[in-house]
Amino acid sequence: MLIQSALVALCATAVAALKPLKIDGRRFVDDDGNALQIVGMAYQPGGSAGYNPKSGEDPLSHKEQCLRDAALMQVLGVNAIRVYNLDPDINHDECASIFNAAGMYMMIDVNSPLPGEAITSFEPWTSYFAEYLNRTFAIVEAFSNYPNTLLFFSGNEIINDLPSAEFVPPYMRAITRDLKNYIKNNIDRQIPVGYSAADVRDVLWDTYNYVACALDGEEDDMSRADFFALNSYSWCGDKATFESSTFVDLVEGLKDTPIPVFFSEYGCNETPDRYWHETQSIYGEDMYNVFSGGVVYEWTQEKNDYGLVEVGKEETQILDDYNRLKEQLGKIEWEDVQSLKTNGDHDFVECAPKLIKAKGFMNNFTLPDLPPGASKLINNGIKPKPSGKIVDIDSWDVSLAVVDSKGNAIKDLAVVPLEEVNWNGKNDIETGSADSSQSGDDDEDGAIMSMPVIWAAILPAVAMLFA
Ligand SMILES: *[C@@H]1O[C@H](CO)[C@@H](O)[C@H](O)[C@H]1NC(C)=O
Ligand SMILES: *[C@@H]1O[C@H](CO)[C@@H](O)[C@H](O)[C@H]1NC(C)=O
Repeated sequence: MLIQSALVALCATAVAALKPLKIDGRRFVDDDGNALQIVGMAYQPGGSAGYNPKSGEDPLSHKEQCLRDAALMQVLGVNAIRVYNLDPDINHDECASIFNAAGMYMMIDVNSPLPGEAITSFEPWTSYFAEYLNRTFAIVEAFSNYPNTLLFFSGNEIINDLPSAEFVPPYMRAITRDLKNYIKNNIDRQIPVGYSAADVRDVLWDTYNYVACALDGEEDDMSRADFFALNSYSWCGDKATFESSTFVDLVEGLKDTPIPVFFSEYGCNETPDRYWHETQSIYGEDMYNVFSGGVVYEWTQEKNDYGLVEVGKEETQILDDYNRLKEQLGKIEWEDVQSLKTNGDHDFVECAPKLIKAKGFMNNFTLPDLPPGASKLINNGIKPKPSGKIVDIDSWDVSLAVVDSKGNAIKDLAVVPLEEVNWNGKNDIETGSADSSQSGDDDEDGAIMSMPVIWAAILPAVAMLFA
């Protein structure tokens, strides 16, 4: 009996999982009411142009890469990844299990850059078909079994300016409706669905009002976005502040939100070095009562120069932006930030044309009907259904080579399996530091150097005890 229960306990540890989260007011919370502030990372190794499902690979198909990246993100303090371009028919079990064990949730885009796999910004009716919806439902099926799947993005930056706002908005609500109905009918957990907007201020507030309002004032209106996320690049350079970046206006504009809002991308790279001072506002009193954190853009260095690590043929190198971000996240009191409450109820706003201010922005809330063949998919589920599960990982060690920003090999890199949300400090493998904190490094070296000295001093005494 004893042995058996010990074994059960061991197995439970091996498949320990993050707690699935749901939305309560403007927070993502677990069953105990603990809210998550998202410390996110945009994860698209190879860039969006690198998405090629015919190769049988996507960003969550390489166990070794996921181990490497999860370990390095753990050191940074990341607790969620955003993944854009996925193939529902590729097996993601190992990577999903690795990120789960690393204490990281997954935010999944249901679209892809391939033709027929996203709603177009112009003439959206030419892309709204049952085959397209089938793809989005397949992504839902492929990820819904993982406890760490946090949410689905129904669209990313589809409304970017007034011309694209003329016809797209009802389609955005329609896709949200279709995904939420699919989940309600076919999935055990009502995983949240929402929109990731471009932070273009000409259309931002109308976009928020259009997707977040409730038709007929009904909170359970299926076409209402469960959350609103925005890609913001207005905090640039070392000197920017909460005010000069205009992040202050985002908080003011969204302060009555009844649903979670967060940055689905941030990290302006107008200056070559990024200092990440915005993290102190995002995870501080400036913003955390309204925002639920944000997603840094992005993990790997690609042509557009936003990366934190550079993946080479032989090895992966940590870049200084990584070290500077680590330094900033290290200053935050995570005990406080990760114990915020839902902070009250805020009323849903009823959809009405008067919510929409910009001339030329669609203000009609009549949604397109389901395309032919789609209601069968929503009622009965797609066939065949891809399906994922958490699996055991035999080793948490990273086998791929990683070097720090000065080219020194990082040894003993491994994922530290957690049974809770990751934050800065839970995996404290030394990954080097940014040049700005060199003096701190010297002190640490000093402490390590003194260990042999201590041993030299006490060894003779220990030897005498046994003499
Ligand atoms: C629906 O998606 C599944 C899973 O990707 C795929 O096997 C199937 O062929 C799709 N069906 C249609 C009609 O597109
Ligand atoms: C809103 O759009 C629907 C469908 O296109 C149309 O039938 C209706 O007349 C429109 N309403 C207004 C006020 O324009």
